Amino acid sequence: MLKAIYPGTFDPVTMGHWDIIQRAEKLVDHLVVAVLHNPSKHPAFSVAERVDFLRELVSPYDNVEVTTFHGLLVDFARLQGTSSIIRGVRAFSDFEYEFQMAIMNRKLAPDLETIFLMPKEEYSVLSSKIVRDVGMMGGDITGFVPDVLKDRIARRLKNPESYA
Ligand code: PNS
Repeated sequence: MLKAIYPGTFDPVTMGHWDIIQRAEKLVDHLVVAVLHNPSKHPAFSVAERVDFLRELVSPYDNVEVTTFHGLLVDFARLQGTSSIIRGVRAFSDFEYEFQMAIMNRKLAPDLETIFLMPKEEYSVLSSKIVRDVGMMGGDITGFVPDVLKDRIARRLKNPESYA
C-alpha cells in the first residue's frame, strides 16, 4: 500500500493546495494531509481552524486523512510508516526552497522521497499569503479558496474574532 504525506502550513488552504490534494489522492492508496503546528510562525488561522477547513474538503474521500504534526517532517514520516512526501511546485520560483527542503529531508532520512506535483497553471501565482492579504483588506477571494470555505475564510480574515 502506498501511503504519502502532504505536509504544509495551509494558512489557509488555497485552490492550489486543493488541486494538489486531488491529484495526490489518485496516485496513492492513502494520503495524510499534515498541518504543521508551529506557533512561532504566528499563523493567521489556528491549527484547529486549518484542520477543520481541510477535513471539510476531504470528507468525500475515504483515503484522505487530515492531521497535525510538529517537529521534523522526517520524524513524522517515520511515525506514519511512510517515506513518500508530496509537495506542490507552482513555478520556477518555488524550486529553490523546495529543492533545499527535499535535499535536507533526504540528508536527515536517506530513504525519504519527495514527489513534486504541479497544480493547474491558473493557480501558479496563488498562495496563502495572497489570500490573507486580499481577504484582510476586504477583497474578493472567489476562486482563490474552495467555494465551500470562501465565506468563512473571508469573514474570518476581515474580522479576526469571527471564528466560532
Ligand atoms: O506550506 P509550507 O509552509 O511551504 O510548508 C512547509 C513545511 C511545513 C512542509 C516545512 O516547513 C516542514 O516540513 N517543517 C517541519 C520542520 C522540518 O522538518 N524542517 C526540516 C526540513 S527543511
